Amino acid sequence: MLELRPFGRDDFQRLISWITSPEFLLQWAGPSFAYPLDKAQLEKYVQESEGRHLRRRIFKAVDTASDSVVGHIELSGIDLRNKAARVCRVLVGDPSYRGKGIGTWMMKKILDLGFNQYGLHRIDLVVFDFNKPAIRCYEKLGFVKEGCLRECRKIGDEYWSLCQMSILESEWRSSLLHENKEQMGRYSVGYDDRTARFMQERTADTHAQFLIPYLVSGMDLLDGGCGPGTITKGLAEIVAPGRVLGVDKEQSQIFLAQRHTDGSPTFEFKVGDLCSLNVDDESFDVVFVHGVLEHIPHPKKAVSEIHRVLRPGGLVGSRHADFGGFLLEPTPLPLGLFSQLFIQLMRRNGGDPYCGRRQPGLFRDAGFEIVKVSASYDCWTSDMASTQRNAEFLSELCGDSGFSDQLLEYGLTDRGVLNRLSSAFLTWGKMPEAFAAEAWGELVARKT
Ligand SMILES: C[S@@+](CC[C@H](N)C(=O)[O-])C[C@H]1O[C@@H](n2cnc3c(N)ncnc32)[C@H](O)[C@@H]1O
Repeated sequence: MLELRPFGRDDFQRLISWITSPEFLLQWAGPSFAYPLDKAQLEKYVQESEGRHLRRRIFKAVDTASDSVVGHIELSGIDLRNKAARVCRVLVGDPSYRGKGIGTWMMKKILDLGFNQYGLHRIDLVVFDFNKPAIRCYEKLGFVKEGCLRECRKIGDEYWSLCQMSILESEWRSSLLHENKEQMGRYSVGYDDRTARFMQERTADTHAQFLIPYLVSGMDLLDGGCGPGTITKGLAEIVAPGRVLGVDKEQSQIFLAQRHTDGSPTFEFKVGDLCSLNVDDESFDVVFVHGVLEHIPHPKKAVSEIHRVLRPGGLVGSRHADFGGFLLEPTPLPLGLFSQLFIQLMRRNGGDPYCGRRQPGLFRDAGFEIVKVSASYDCWTSDMASTQRNAEFLSELCGDSGFSDQLLEYGLTDRGVLNRLSSAFLTWGKMPEAFAAEAWGELVARKT
């Protein structure tokens, strides 16, 4: 793991040893230092970063596994009136650490510091125009080229040109969202109105019974992948006045969920990634995670995040579908295809259709103590009205939805099959013998 720590006097000698030529010094730091770099120059540099009115923050990057210092970065010219600053003196000093994404990691950290902690609006940088790998890295992070300072630095008999780049806070946030979406994988069911309505029928009573006996008033609870928040709302009532935070990667779901809140700071919904939560260590007593892990390409990451944010002794309540147990009857052609297509799409999106049964292993491997494992079914045909509603939902899912768009995009089926599936579900919904049920694996586990 890497960490940014303040750069100090103990770090002078190492930094000096990294700067091996006047060209390298100019490339790294511009004309602010003279070659050879020495302690007196660095002393002045560090002094400018001390004091109450900080205009400069200097960091070293540390590989915590080996406790080795591997890089250097700085946020300079911090101007709180114009909400602007400059990133400079970016260096992965140890050659054996180059090409491993450490520069990008340091840049992300410094942007996070600038935009989130200092509330900046704009961060810029300059880079020599021949440093193509660095320019590519900055562009990937969302920096935009503003122009070129032509032949502005003299080195020997040559002149070098600088490229000026900047990123605004809004650009940074949208590049983060884009990056998160790529990493989080695609959600197979999609977010159509009909799907949202299906999810909104869920309540704590119907879908969180396995966890409710463990909840008491005053617990702080996080719902990871909260969707439209209807289950979260019921859980919030049980743990009140405890703090409740619902997090979902999808803004449209957060908008729906926010309808259940009254602006109270102790009951909130926010966009976020369950695999990388913007939440302090050990800040919740309970994490509820429902119908989510089966859609995530890296469920281990999510489980280790859940572990991180739980207080010692805290509980996780986890309930996930297992499509090996999906029951559908009768299955006139082509309905039998439905669960096959669902399973193929989940896999194509990096999910695990059999996640329900894999939870004990997943949580035990992350260091949890298993408290209780159970399983249950949601019956989708418990009366005529619910059979009708769910038949319409399944019909729309196959007809024109995010789910069917993805199946077509991946070439897993064609429009003709989907149309036949869509109308077969409407016919099925009218059959008195129609039966459908979704299987769930459930688990309560404790952080020891
Ligand atoms: C099947 S819905 C379940 C919603 C809610 N938990 C429920 O059971 O009603 C899955 C939700 O997980 C969200 N999700 C998927 N991957 C996520 C991630 N990495 N971080 C946060 N939310 C995620 C999706 O956006 C979607 O709203």
